[in-house]
Amino acid sequence: MDFVVRNASLPDGRTGIDIAVQDGRIAALGPALGVQGAREIDAGGDLASPPFVDAHFHMDSTLSYGMPRVNASGTLLEGIALWGELKPQLVQDALVERALQYSDWAVARGLLAIRTHVDVCDERLLAVEALLEVKRRVAPYIDLQLVAFPQDGLLRSPGAFDNLKRAIGMGVDVVGGIPHFERTMAQGAESVRLLCEFAAGQGLRVDMHCDETDDPLSRHIETLAYETWRLGMQGRVAGSHLTSMHSMDNYYVSKLLPLMRESGVAAIANPLINITLQGRHDTYPKRRGMTRVPELLAAGIDVAFGHDCVMDPWYGLGSGDMLEVAHMGLHVAQMTGQDAMRACFEAVTSTPARILGLEGYGLEPGCHADFVLLDAATPVEAIRLRAARRLVVRRGKVVAEAPPARPVLHLPGRPASVDFRIGR
Ligand code: FE2
Repeated sequence: MDFVVRNASLPDGRTGIDIAVQDGRIAALGPALGVQGAREIDAGGDLASPPFVDAHFHMDSTLSYGMPRVNASGTLLEGIALWGELKPQLVQDALVERALQYSDWAVARGLLAIRTHVDVCDERLLAVEALLEVKRRVAPYIDLQLVAFPQDGLLRSPGAFDNLKRAIGMGVDVVGGIPHFERTMAQGAESVRLLCEFAAGQGLRVDMHCDETDDPLSRHIETLAYETWRLGMQGRVAGSHLTSMHSMDNYYVSKLLPLMRESGVAAIANPLINITLQGRHDTYPKRRGMTRVPELLAAGIDVAFGHDCVMDPWYGLGSGDMLEVAHMGLHVAQMTGQDAMRACFEAVTSTPARILGLEGYGLEPGCHADFVLLDAATPVEAIRLRAARRLVVRRGKVVAEAPPARPVLHLPGRPASVDFRIGR
């Protein structure tokens, strides 16, 4: 074998597992495998997980914080206006460079698949060209999936639909939208219908920014679910954000959840950004704004967590750490039970992998040899510690390494260092 990891724990609770890698694939996986590796690593009981997956990101704006100024109000709408100021000043080389730098951060964090929305409301499609170039360049180490995103509104922004179609023709993978930003509810619903029909005709997936508002009457998710069902696109459509669901009437939600389940529409929450941007017009009590994650999960609907933004007009923090995203999602959704915490880990690994339709993802024989060895024994411990990525492996090769966190102590009569893991 090219590579064997000994004595790993897995997210499903199995322990003492060896993982044998040959030719970039997992050749065998099980307890005490009788094989030799050209390289062998002792996991020492640490958690080997499939790579982190970010279901929702904006790579065209990442690492642009402060350009040309910071978002003073902290609102979504000022962020969109600020991005509108920055867009005409974008230069392709600088955009590519920022995206490549973020990709380096992602790999260091074990984040090896990202779905990024790319704004198509710029006639030049400069960001589309730039991110297609980035997608080619990072392909050996990151699966980058692009969504054609009409940031300024499909119907509201002149030429947006033509630009979106051009972007798809250039190689963008997924059809996006932003119905709550159209001029009227009716136009929002019309944009959903047009985009879903276009995607169905092209055989493409759909992922819309949908109802990213505190307005409980923003119900475009209903139309998105209906169009998904009508066009037979079950399992290929996601609604991102869905923050209006936080504020909706409970009776209405009791009808909406089964409709979403029937349609096979997935939900993508963005905890760091939703908790930051929503509720900005409230005094007190102030809404959290994140969509109803536990209720969606209980209804059998796939829910992933996305990072959404890192150092851009909407958010001035972040470093590509999906464990930080899971940590925030867990808190905002009050998902503190053991099963619920494990579901938060799945929301940044296996669930988004399913939403993106990643081929060969997982820790089973035959899957790509892509995994992360974490400085933690379980998914819950990994979230608690935002654990160091001891090893990041892509197609059987180590692409990043980090030392475990063991601060040195200088206290008489106490241990020389601290290990935050329980029972070690
Ligand atoms: Fe977004």
